[in-house]
Amino acid sequence: MQYKQLEVFPNHFLWGASISAYQAEGAYQEDGKLPSIIDEYQHNEDVAGFEVASDFYHHYKEDILLFKELGLKAFRFSIAWTRIMGKNPEDKNQKGIDFYHRVIDECLKNGIEPIVTMYHFDLPYHLEEQGGWLNRKTIEHFVDYVNVLFTEYGDKINYWLTINEQNTMILHPGAIGLPKQGSLPTKKELFQMNHHVLLAQARAIALHHQLGLKGKIGPAINLTAMYQATAKPEDAIAAHNWETLRGWSFLDAAVRGKYNYLFEKYLNDRKIYPKIKAEDFDILAAGKPDFVAINYYSTATISASKNDGSDVSPRAGDQQIMLGEEGVYRAAENPYVDKTPYGWVVDPTGLRLTLRKLYDRYELPILITENGYGAPDTIDEEGKIQDTDRIHYLAKHITAIQEALTDGVDVIGYLPWSAIDVVSTHQGFNKRYGFIYVDRTDKELKTLKRIRKDSFYWYQKVIAQNGLD
Ligand code: BG6
Repeated sequence: MQYKQLEVFPNHFLWGASISAYQAEGAYQEDGKLPSIIDEYQHNEDVAGFEVASDFYHHYKEDILLFKELGLKAFRFSIAWTRIMGKNPEDKNQKGIDFYHRVIDECLKNGIEPIVTMYHFDLPYHLEEQGGWLNRKTIEHFVDYVNVLFTEYGDKINYWLTINEQNTMILHPGAIGLPKQGSLPTKKELFQMNHHVLLAQARAIALHHQLGLKGKIGPAINLTAMYQATAKPEDAIAAHNWETLRGWSFLDAAVRGKYNYLFEKYLNDRKIYPKIKAEDFDILAAGKPDFVAINYYSTATISASKNDGSDVSPRAGDQQIMLGEEGVYRAAENPYVDKTPYGWVVDPTGLRLTLRKLYDRYELPILITENGYGAPDTIDEEGKIQDTDRIHYLAKHITAIQEALTDGVDVIGYLPWSAIDVVSTHQGFNKRYGFIYVDRTDKELKTLKRIRKDSFYWYQKVIAQNGLD
C-alpha cells in the first residue's frame, strides 16, 4: 500500500537502544558472579572474549548519562542470572542484586524506561553441568530466579522480556560458542530443550500476572519474513516451511499456548518429538504474553529443498551458522537487496512485511528490541566515527516502521542494537553496532573511552523530533 501521507509516531513511542549483560558488562568474575556457559564455552580465539567486554559494569553511570544525552526514552539490558543467584535456590548474591538496582535507578533518575531481558543466552554453568535446558529441573531454577527478579525489581519495571531469541538458541546453538567437549546437542535434544524453555517462559509470564505486578511481559524472538526465490510453487512451500519452523512455531507456543500443526508434524516425522507431560499444555496456555518483542535484522530467501544431501550450507561470511535443511528448505540469494560488510541482508521493506505478518497473526502490541548494522567502525584523523552506512540503515528501517504504523500495526517502540559497542555473539569487537564507540579492539583493551559516533547525533535528532525529517 502506498499512502499520500504517513502517520506520525505516537507520542509515547519508546525510542531506545539495547545491550545484553554478557556482551557489555565484563566483570565476569566480580562481586560473586558465577560462571555462565558463555564464560565456559569455547570461542573463536582471534576475537575478543567476554571477560571485559565494554566494561559496562564499571561504566554504567557514565553510559546511562550518555544515553540520556542521546535522548533515549528506553534502555533494554539483560540481567545476568549468574550475578543474582548462587548455586542453591536459597542463595542469592546481594552484590549482583544491588548492581541492577543501581542500573535501574540510574535509568529512572534520568527519565529512561528500563526494559529488562531475563535471559540472554547466559545459562549458569553449574546448571549446564546438570544437563542445562535438557534437564526439566532447570525450569524450577529459572522460576526461582524470576521470583527474585519480581520481588526485587517488580515495582520498577514496566516491560519485561522473558527469553532472548529462543529460536537462535535452538536452531543455531553454535552461535554462542561451543561446549567444552566440542559437540552440540542433537536435534532431538534441542527440541526437548526448546520445550523446557517454553515452559519456563510460560511459568514466568503466569507468575508475573498472578503477582499482579505493574507493567507487561512478553517473549523476544528473532523474527523475519521469508521470500520464495521464484514463483515456483515448491519454493513457496519451502518458504512457508521455514517461516513456520524458524519463527511461528516458537511464537505460536508462546502466544497461543500450543504447538503449531506443521511443527508437530515435522517433529513427529523426524522422530524428534519431545517428551511432554499432560499438564504442560495447561502451563503453556496459562502464560499468555501482553506483547511480542522481535529482533529483526534481515530477511531470508528460500528455495525448495533438493533433498540430495546438498541443502545445508554456511551463512554468507559466517561458518558458524548453517542454513538449509534436507526436505525442508534451501537458502537462496536475493538479487534485490543490499548486504552489510558482514554479509547480512539489508531489507527495510522486509521489516514492514514482518511486522504486518506478526500483527495479522496475534494482534498484540509489538516492541522491536533489536535491529542494527554491524560494521568495523574506525576513528578518523579528526577523532570522528563517520558511520554513515549505519545511519542510512537505521533511517530506512525507521521509515519502514512508520509505514507499518500507517498500515495499522501497533508498534510501541524501537530499540536498535546496540546502545553502545558490545562484543558480537561470535565475531568479536571489530563488528560494532553502537551509537557510542568503545575504545578497545579484539586484542587490546586500550582506554575503553566512550566516543559519540555520527549516528549518535543523528539518532538524538530523530528522537527529539519524534521521527525522521
Ligand atoms: C542477536 C542477539 O541475535 O543479534 C545479540 O540477540 C547479537 O546478542 C545480535 O549480538 C547481533 O549478532 P552478532 O552475531 O552480529 O553479534
